[in-house]
Amino acid sequence: MSEARILDGKATALAIRTEVRSAAAKLEESGCRAGLAVVLVGEDPASHVYVRNKDRAASDAGLAVQTVRLGAATTQERLLQEVRTLAEDDAVHGILVQLPLPSHLDAAEVIEAIPPHKDVDGLTQSNVAALVTGRPGLRPCTPAGCIELLTRYEIGLEGKHVVVVGRSMLVGKPLAHLALAANATVTICHSRTQELEQHCRRADILVAAVGIPELIRGDWVQPGAVVLDVGINRAEDGRLVGDVDFEGASRIASAITPVPGGIGPMTIAMLLVNTLQSAALRCGMTAKDLGWGR
Ligand code: GUN
Repeated sequence: MSEARILDGKATALAIRTEVRSAAAKLEESGCRAGLAVVLVGEDPASHVYVRNKDRAASDAGLAVQTVRLGAATTQERLLQEVRTLAEDDAVHGILVQLPLPSHLDAAEVIEAIPPHKDVDGLTQSNVAALVTGRPGLRPCTPAGCIELLTRYEIGLEGKHVVVVGRSMLVGKPLAHLALAANATVTICHSRTQELEQHCRRADILVAAVGIPELIRGDWVQPGAVVLDVGINRAEDGRLVGDVDFEGASRIASAITPVPGGIGPMTIAMLLVNTLQSAALRCGMTAKDLGWGR
């Protein structure tokens, strides 16, 4: 069996970031600098790495970035105040509150304090409703990155059976809706699904976003299927692995994303896309005005 084509999220994300940089420069020429605010609460090491990567990518693309770092003991009221201040700041077009928040904080209430037009994570009730009903709105970055990667590799979704393993608000649920909107037939599975293996075997496009290292074995993949691995886990031996057994799956799939270098970089690229879109809209510019092919 030949090896699967590698869907190179790192290279694709770099191409998108270059497009964003050029559109951001055009927007700035018209007197509007796109601004992103990232809020990080607590000491979770993985979150610190993600936020640093987002900060760097946004700065590289010419966006004005401010990162608000708050201690693990921050109160709900203090966090809400920070978000409300950013909500009122005209220089800020996108607000992202890094998740998970420490367990004493109410993430749902904090997210609802973000105005929907600045909600570059697409997590407010308003943007979730827009996604489900097919109205325009900001879409969550990781699932949007999955669809964008497929699009750029000319892998169509129409009529395909997409099996999503994972039902989170950040990935699984929004991805299922994005795939439906692209005319796929969608099955949503999760950690409690019975006969998970049988569902996976029926996927034309299998998306793993369940957060369990190498849960999905190579022989659960239908020959010729496309595999998107959203998981980033530390295996017992210290390796960074996805939710899919990459070695096994890449012998059977027609195309597969690696971990790292697959969906992770796409998430960051789509954050920049969402922020620039928010900024352009606020400043009365269209993608066409910016020479941006979106
Ligand atoms: N934590 C892990 N992924 C994400 C994401 O896409 N957005 C936010 N806000 N937090 C995350």
